[in-house]
Formats: sequence, C-alpha cells, structure tokens
Amino acid sequence: MSEEKFASESKCVKTEIVLPGDTNPLGNLFGGRLMEWIDIAGSIAAQRHCGRVVVTAAINHISFSVPIKENSIVTLEAQVSRAFETSMEVIVDVYVENTVTGKRTKCNEAIATYVAIDQNGTPLPVPKVIPQTELEKARYDAALRRRQLSLILSGRLKPDDATELKSLFIK
Ligand SMILES: CC(C)(COP(=O)(O)OP(=O)(O)OC[C@H]1O[C@@H](n2cnc3c(N)ncnc32)[C@H](O)[C@@H]1OP(=O)(O)O)[C@@H](O)C(=O)NCCC(=O)NCCS
Repeated sequence: MSEEKFASESKCVKTEIVLPGDTNPLGNLFGGRLMEWIDIAGSIAAQRHCGRVVVTAAINHISFSVPIKENSIVTLEAQVSRAFETSMEVIVDVYVENTVTGKRTKCNEAIATYVAIDQNGTPLPVPKVIPQTELEKARYDAALRRRQLSLILSGRLKPDDATELKSLFIK
C-alpha cells in the first residue's frame, strides 16, 4: 500500500462519564477501565488510518498522573503519530472536564502500537503518515525511538541494531 494519509484523519474522540461501577474503593476511576477506554480509542484511530482490522501489539507507555473522580466527564483523543510497515503508533491524550466551568485538563496519556491484519492474522501493509502541526511532527520524529525501545524490550531487536538509541545502550 503506497497511500499516505494525514495524521489528523485518524483522530478518534471518545467521551465517557465516570459511573459508580467504573471506580475503585476511593471513588476514583479504576485504572483498568481507563486502559480499556484508551485501547478502544487507540484501535479506532489505527483502524481509521489503515482501513483494516487491527490488533494491539503493545502498550508502550501509560501514565496516571491525576486521579479522576466519580461523575467526571473524561475525553480521550487518539491519533496515529507514525506508521511503519504494518504497525502504527497511536498516542492517546486523556482530559478531564470540570462540569461547572467546562475547563478541560490533561490528566493522562498513553502510547500504543497496533498492527493491521488479515482474516488469518497475517500483518498487512499500512499507509504512511503525513504529520502537519508542530506537535504531530515532534511525535512523528520521536516515534522511531519509542518503536526501537519497545522492540528491544520485547526481545525483537538487539540493542546493537537500535540505530536511534545507540547512545543509551552501547557502552
Ligand atoms: C501483533 C502480531 C500481529 C505481530 O505478528 P508477527 O507475526 O510477530 O508479525 P511481525 O513480526 O511482522 O510484526 C508485525 C509488526 O508489529 C511490530 N511489533 C510487534 N511487536 C511489537 C512491539 N512489542 N512493539 C512495537 N512494535 C511491535 C513489528 O515491529 C512489525 O512492525 P512493522 O511491520 O511496521 O515493521 C501478533 O504478535 C499478534 O497477533 N499478537 C496478538 C495480538 C492480540 O491478540 N492483541 C490483543 C491482546 S489482549
């Protein structure tokens, strides 16, 4: 597939309200529920980019910087940052909304890798990504380093072959 697509074409916005069944004993959003929402938004963005069924290959990074209270409105914005041969990196920004003022605050973020597959589970080529904004360009550039780190951690790449990370791993 030689097609190229703008990063923004993959954007998925998912809004949820934190119900009692979504919380931990402290009344805050349970991390596993947020991970589920992140994976749904991320996989929709990846699917929009490639027009194929995708599977989650890796959750590369996730951080829970701020607890999210019951009844909060939570918005997840997922977008493909870079595509390689059959895999795509997706960044999911999570915002919590003050229901009185409407002010949105970024509270969490996650980075995941999805792979396009056919009905037999065989990986398929995906379109390249064209970043347009400064943020999209920065995320696109950094995605190669994150991919190499993820491949090293999963045993798929030798540190010696990580061209972007040599200064970190090679003495
Ligand atoms: C993901 C999967 C399709 C990869 O299949 P595979 O036979 O290993 O195929 P490949 O080795 O060609 O890898 C496919 C792509 O995934 C990438 N990849 C695989 N694991 C990765 C990881 N941990 N981090 C980053 N990229 C990864 C490879 O680099 C490759 O990318 P590229 O084609 O863009 O260069 C396969 O491992 C799978 O089906 N896993 C289970 C997926 C699943 O069930 N997810 C839900 C879990 S609950």
